[in-house]
Amino acid sequence: MSSLIDTRPVILTGDRTTGPLHLGHYAGSLKSRVALQRSHRQFLLLADTQALTDNAHDPQRVRRNVLEVAIDYLAVGIDPALTTICVQSALPALAELTLLYLNFVTVSRLERNPTIKTEIQLRGFERDVPAGFLCYPVAQAADITAFKATVVPVGEDQAPLIEQTNEIVRRLNRQIGRDVLVEATAMVPSVGRLPGVDGKAKMSKSQGNAIPLSASPDEISDAVRRMYTDPDHLRVGDPGRVEGNVVFTYMDAFCEDRQLVDDMKAHYRRGGLGDVALKRYLEDILQALLAPIRERRAYFAAEPDYVLDIMREGTRKAKERTEATLAELRAALGLFSLI
Ligand code: TRP
Repeated sequence: MSSLIDTRPVILTGDRTTGPLHLGHYAGSLKSRVALQRSHRQFLLLADTQALTDNAHDPQRVRRNVLEVAIDYLAVGIDPALTTICVQSALPALAELTLLYLNFVTVSRLERNPTIKTEIQLRGFERDVPAGFLCYPVAQAADITAFKATVVPVGEDQAPLIEQTNEIVRRLNRQIGRDVLVEATAMVPSVGRLPGVDGKAKMSKSQGNAIPLSASPDEISDAVRRMYTDPDHLRVGDPGRVEGNVVFTYMDAFCEDRQLVDDMKAHYRRGGLGDVALKRYLEDILQALLAPIRERRAYFAAEPDYVLDIMREGTRKAKERTEATLAELRAALGLFSLI
């Protein structure tokens, strides 16, 4: 930085550490995080505490994946000299802010949060929702505001969480009488969510329809071979459907040559472009995209101490920043700081 004060907008985003990241994460967020790390002051949160809100029965899984996700970050090109990578559970200020914020939100408001409503259904929690899960939007508000982030890149499904964060910010600021906390804006990716290879809504490891960033060349071939196309496209010469055809959705997401994709779509619609040829094209693109990521992944996976050092250094920086916000808020609320 040439100036003494870093005026770049602050980004906070993160991932629950429930499993290694996949191609859906790459298209939806990792790629833009790599692109934003110079123009923005970026913090990435390895959200292990949030992962526990629906994985309390398997804390080992959460722990193991903290390192896996950190390795994924480094493998896709997150540069620890530009982006701060930190561990949520090692930042006690986040927990303390959560506890304070819980008094500025109602239970009924939490129950009405559209993200939470859908997620409760997906997980089959019904009446047995862990309190930590219901309240994770408040914890996420603590994450965002503790870093004083103004930009939060999240998927469309998480946009209501930013709304809820800003409600808490406004309530607290009104209570205090000045703007100690700052509101944030959701940055929703222009590309929609990447579907799973089976054409089902969302790529997810638990659905078995994901391509992990660590996929081997054979796993990539296999996934492309299984990819859902147009079930009515029986002969090469038949006209085929592009809409809902997963291969084209992936071409849109990963092929840089827009003109070529448009030409291929026209050809497919007209008839004469077979699934095998189409898939071969996509496979080449995915193999070329994932080969260097896989290589870098293997490199960092063999150097866990190096990765842990990066996490330690990032968490130290994040601790300083989040504790400064907490101290400001405690003082503004008039809480005693005796020791
Ligand atoms: N909710 C995010 C996920 O499901 C992870 C996360 C935790 C997060 N804290 C955050 C994202 C703060 C953005 C901002 O992976």
